Amino acid sequence: MEFALLNGEIIERSQAKVDVEDRGYQFGDGIYEVIRVYNGKMFTAAEHLSRFKRSSESIGITLPFSSLELTEMLNELIIKNNLNTGNIYMQVTRGVAPRNHLFPTGNVVPTLTAYTINGVRPLENLKSGVKTILTEDIRWLRCDIKSLNLLGNLLAKQKASEQGCFEAIQHRGQDVTEGSSSNIFIVKNGTVITHESNHLILKGITKDVILNLCMKNNIPVQERTFSLAELEEAEEVFLSSTTAEVMPIIEIDGKKVKSGIPGPLTCKLQDLFQKEIERQCGVLVDNEI
Ligand code: PDD
Repeated sequence: MEFALLNGEIIERSQAKVDVEDRGYQFGDGIYEVIRVYNGKMFTAAEHLSRFKRSSESIGITLPFSSLELTEMLNELIIKNNLNTGNIYMQVTRGVAPRNHLFPTGNVVPTLTAYTINGVRPLENLKSGVKTILTEDIRWLRCDIKSLNLLGNLLAKQKASEQGCFEAIQHRGQDVTEGSSSNIFIVKNGTVITHESNHLILKGITKDVILNLCMKNNIPVQERTFSLAELEEAEEVFLSSTTAEVMPIIEIDGKKVKSGIPGPLTCKLQDLFQKEIERQCGVLVDNEI
């Protein structure tokens, strides 16, 4: 039997239902997190929970539980669902209230849900790299909030998929921002470059792990906006996310990135990232790149 978390209680997943007037359902009025689980342990849990809090506060939702309480509940959910490798999806909405664009007044309780999804590491793609397309970034100007409103991202991802690609690299005019569900990195003269964490992108947890690994290993990094021209000339390109980790990009809009195979620095970062997973979650068995 599968279980889910609904407002602080772990119940049978099929019983975890929300009202038709939940503001998440009607307006996308809420925020979410995706947390990776390896060997039954959450990876970078504290970072995800602190972003969950930050996102909810930025839209005026007060979380009904502390990060510590949430950690305990999520760990219980992992155990109850017997999750070894996979993801936790967690979201909070402004709650249930008669439909009105205005925030509800009075005692409306946020709706908090979480459930788990089994899923192995995408080893094939991690080894061979993935193809991408370019698309104009048509999203709003608060991409730093991990909002439930993902239409812009969905349209971009769907377009990529329809062209046989894994991801869409978004750009505002000449400036590359981020993927539809990932952050984008280039390597230029041996330096790892990725968009600065401002309102135009999501401050990825994986991105921050990678930047820290670079700094600890004397790999030069720059957090700055880079252009489509720099992307096109890059020595290496990769993307990062909770589920995709450090994913080599080998093609953009039908054009190979250099020789069309994952670059050496990308592979080194994959290796360092895998070691970081093992440091936090224990040795990966039959699940390594
Ligand atoms: N997406 N940018 C966007 C727009 C994202 O949706 C994501 C993650 C990232 C990477 O963030 P992180 O490293 O913290 O996962 C960047 C998640 C995985 C999703 O929506 O499924």
